[in-house]
Amino acid sequence: MVSRVIPVDTFDLVIFGGTGDLARRKILPALFRRYCSGQMPEDSRVIGAARSEMDDQGFRDFTREALAEFGKSQADNAEAVEGFLRHLHYVPVDARGEGGWSDLKDLLRDDEGIVRAFYFSVGPSLFADLASHVHSRGLSNRDTRIVVEKPFGHDLESARALNEELAQYFHEDQIYRIDHYLGKETVQNLMAVRFGNMLFEPLWNAQYVDHIQITVAETVGVGGRGSYYDKSGAMRDMVQNHLMQLLCLIAMEPPARFEADAVRDEKLKVIRALDPVDPDQIVRGQYTSDGEMPSYREDAENPTSKTESFIALKCYVSNWRWANTPFYLRTGKRLASRASEIAVVFKETPHSIFGIDSGRHRNVLSIRLQPNEGMTLGVTIKEPGPGGMRLVDVPLDMSFAEALGPEAEEVTDAYERLIMDVIRGNQTLFMRGDEVEAAWSWTDPLIEGWERRGDSPKPYDAGGAGPDDAAFLINRDGRRWRGIKA
Ligand code: BG6
Repeated sequence: MVSRVIPVDTFDLVIFGGTGDLARRKILPALFRRYCSGQMPEDSRVIGAARSEMDDQGFRDFTREALAEFGKSQADNAEAVEGFLRHLHYVPVDARGEGGWSDLKDLLRDDEGIVRAFYFSVGPSLFADLASHVHSRGLSNRDTRIVVEKPFGHDLESARALNEELAQYFHEDQIYRIDHYLGKETVQNLMAVRFGNMLFEPLWNAQYVDHIQITVAETVGVGGRGSYYDKSGAMRDMVQNHLMQLLCLIAMEPPARFEADAVRDEKLKVIRALDPVDPDQIVRGQYTSDGEMPSYREDAENPTSKTESFIALKCYVSNWRWANTPFYLRTGKRLASRASEIAVVFKETPHSIFGIDSGRHRNVLSIRLQPNEGMTLGVTIKEPGPGGMRLVDVPLDMSFAEALGPEAEEVTDAYERLIMDVIRGNQTLFMRGDEVEAAWSWTDPLIEGWERRGDSPKPYDAGGAGPDDAAFLINRDGRRWRGIKA
């Protein structure tokens, strides 16, 4: 299958925090890979801007090292690397002070055809300062875009304040709030499968779906970022954004068009339809040490921490389509494997014509986000061979790498797609301000609840599936979690 790469318009992309960790691991490698694929026009430029004193050459050296570590297979091509580095520039800029802003202004090109974007790859405490400088220094016009990273606030109040600060200088259609889960290949495919096929949508409702599970399991701990994570926890770090975005895409009504506001309007309706969650439908956990690796509390350097590194909860989307259909959400660190999956578990057939010996069977549509991106539909068939009508469940497997050939093997990183969408001016895969606020409005009371009660998370063994209570949460409804395979 030949993929079609359509070059974007020429751009000047300024990365504030250009020497930071996100730039090194994600943004610069993503731009490099788009350059290699021919999507980045020759006269485009990437301008690193940060506090460190550095010149263009220093930034190119920094990027060369980043690509060697994170650039995937294309980084072996020295010619491509050097070609990309020629597009890079650097200006030392003081986000809170005066230094560097006029140099940055001088560097930017004023031609109308050149897209100008500012990537705020910095902590949210600097968003307002950067936005105000970009605006007051005359670096922006009505077409300039800004990109902001999560965390977008810590709760509703802080998210609202951030939205208001940005709104002083930029229109909503200029603000690109990143949730990198929306840029993942399978997430896009989820929409294609739902809205591009006749097969699923008629069954996609409370009448045919028994329940939905969303799992994002990670093997990593929080070591190295414990001080951020300990103030956040799994609810703020993963559920409020990534898992809720997945839930929205699964549960939303078909938008009339695949356009930014049409899609985001439907997602917002889902968030607003979420019921509050009872405390007994939430299980929080914290990983312990396995003897070799540190415990959560050691990683967080907080021996009395009550922050959760795992959370499982059951919630309901109270609308006509999903009435009484449970959505089970689960995410955690230091679990048995890195496995992210959305599973749509259909109801049993209303009557089994094959008798009790054949067992009861359910179709499950499993959408794997990582690893091995793809989808599997579990169907029930007759077990081959003689011996009567025995039924078995077999997977109809669609692994994207297999189905699409070698090109799909190195699945496009979410950041590649998202940064190109910024340049294209397509906000479909970015969160709108009201969506973010609605998501905090749902999570805030849950967090306040356990903080008020002083609840401690349940300890769980590293390398497992989380605390036992997470299993009880679903087992008591007569259901089971899907395995987190090691
Ligand atoms: C980030 C979280 O947003 O997503 C991290 O802050 C988490 O804690 C990461 O590890 C997971 O992303 P991915 O793409 O590796 O699943």
